[in-house]
Amino acid sequence: MAKKFKITICSGTTCYVLGGAHLMMLAESLPADLKDQVEIIDSNCIKACQFENAQPPFVQINDYLMSQASVAKVVEYLRKH
Ligand code: FES
Repeated sequence: MAKKFKITICSGTTCYVLGGAHLMMLAESLPADLKDQVEIIDSNCIKACQFENAQPPFVQINDYLMSQASVAKVVEYLRKH
C-alpha cells in the first residue's frame, strides 16, 4: 500500500547544523501508528535555505515545506493531516 506521507529530511549542511541532526532520528521517534504511514527520505540540500529569511532546518512533507522543523512539529502536522 502506498504511504500517506512522503517526508524528505534535508541533511544539507545548513539544516543539519541548525537542528537537522535531531530530525535524523525522526524515524525512530515516530509513534508506531504514524510510522506505518510515512516514507522517510534523507536528501542533500533541498534549496529552501537559499530563500531570503529562510528558517532552517527544513523538512518537506508531500507538498508542504516546513521551516524550523522539529520532530514534535512533524508529529503534530501528521496528526492533523
Ligand atoms: S541545507 Fe537544507 S535546504 Fe539547504
